[in-house]
Amino acid sequence: MIDSEKNSRIADLGLAPLGEQAISWARAHSPLVDGYLRDKFSDGSLKNRRVAVVVHLEAKTALLAVTLADAGADVIVAGSNPHSTRDEIAAALVARGIEVHSSRNSSYSIWESDLDAVASRKPELIIDDGAELTMRIVNAGSDHGILGVTEQTTTGVARLRQLEALGRVSFPVLAANDAKCKHLFDNRYGTGQSTIQAILNLTNMLMAGKNVAIFGYGWVGRGIATHVRALGGTAWIVEIDPVKALEALMDGHQVAAAADAIPKADFVLTATGGIKAVGAKHFEIMKQGVILANAGHHDLEIDVDWLKNKSEMIREVREGIDRYEIEGIGHFYVLANGALVNIAGGLGHPIEIMDLSFAVQGVGCHELAKGNLMPGVTVITSSLDNEIAAAALAVQGVLLDEVSAEQTENIEVMFGKID
Ligand SMILES: NC(=O)c1ccc[n+]([C@@H]2O[C@H](COP(=O)([O-])OP(=O)(O)OC[C@H]3O[C@@H](n4cnc5c(N)ncnc54)[C@H](O)[C@@H]3O)[C@@H](O)[C@H]2O)c1
Repeated sequence: MIDSEKNSRIADLGLAPLGEQAISWARAHSPLVDGYLRDKFSDGSLKNRRVAVVVHLEAKTALLAVTLADAGADVIVAGSNPHSTRDEIAAALVARGIEVHSSRNSSYSIWESDLDAVASRKPELIIDDGAELTMRIVNAGSDHGILGVTEQTTTGVARLRQLEALGRVSFPVLAANDAKCKHLFDNRYGTGQSTIQAILNLTNMLMAGKNVAIFGYGWVGRGIATHVRALGGTAWIVEIDPVKALEALMDGHQVAAAADAIPKADFVLTATGGIKAVGAKHFEIMKQGVILANAGHHDLEIDVDWLKNKSEMIREVREGIDRYEIEGIGHFYVLANGALVNIAGGLGHPIEIMDLSFAVQGVGCHELAKGNLMPGVTVITSSLDNEIAAAALAVQGVLLDEVSAEQTENIEVMFGKID
């Protein structure tokens, strides 16, 4: 038995060939991770570094882990959510010699013990999602020896900034989410497309003519709304931030308070990054048979626990769809247990999007490995952001014009020096 098999906790190693197929497909469509990042890593900065990858465990994440391992890093992997791991992908990584602690739909306590197993390996570099591993390590007081963290999501960055404000971040953190090449594309186009795709696949329903209440009009919410409209549905935006609400209105969507939007909605979707955005007072005014799904980081954006506690009957009516029935109120359908529907109930982000996001995470990890950054939360430089965008354009054969000397001078007068 190879070490990775002995040390790992996964569902079934026999699924590895299926996982390999998915990783190969992802690789064939990931020119940035498989080309641009590999070139960066070839300087040896990651050699023998202990790197933890704690991101939703599916094919694109596996490709990142493999690329790090090929660069000589000692990689250990866990899922960032108990519902989103693909067991065949976990198996393929173990078969390749990478240690993995994760299985699909594990309980919260098992998922937490998986994170503890990764933490016990004292990773020097962490590629995190939701700050799930970093928070555990910092809260346990065992953050000595961390060279740096690069964080994938809006929620994770918010958590890390809170820790920083409390003076508890003693290592450099790169907010990958805040890089332009991440949130402008992943949160908007990637989550927008994959969320609607997952909902329609799970339900086998039509979007045209539907009313969709969307809680939150951040990057994720606006991507979802765009895709709802593209398929002939009407997005009803529920916001708490007046500027975001005004943007939604000018983007041509309906904007309303929850009490007005919810009774019309055929689908209610959450993308706030907070908890209990949809709860008891909302369920009471929903249409019978409304479909609820979440795209935000927490499984807690829709108060599924309230539904569980109040329901006389709960049953799975179709894979990934649970029906809750509450006497005197009605019945509701919840997709993917209220976890991120595009990942736990679908295929996750499109490959090209994760190629871009993981280019940001990989570049961040590479910068952290070089050890030149100060403790605290920052973002990769705009020149690195531009370098990634230029690489993404170049693989599509798109080259940009250059500004003339005269234009440069003029631009610098208006906007300051170009780096
Ligand atoms: N599913 C995915 O694959 C995926 C991808 C990227 C980000 N995310 C997650 O999605 C969530 C949103 O990300 P984002 O980048 O859009 O964040 P964001 O901060 O840009 O937007 C969140 C919006 O929600 C609004 N909001 C907060 N509480 C609300 C409430 N109770 N009711 C209505 N609106 C409320 C805020 O005003 C804000 O405009 C985060 O948890 C993020 O981590 C998920």
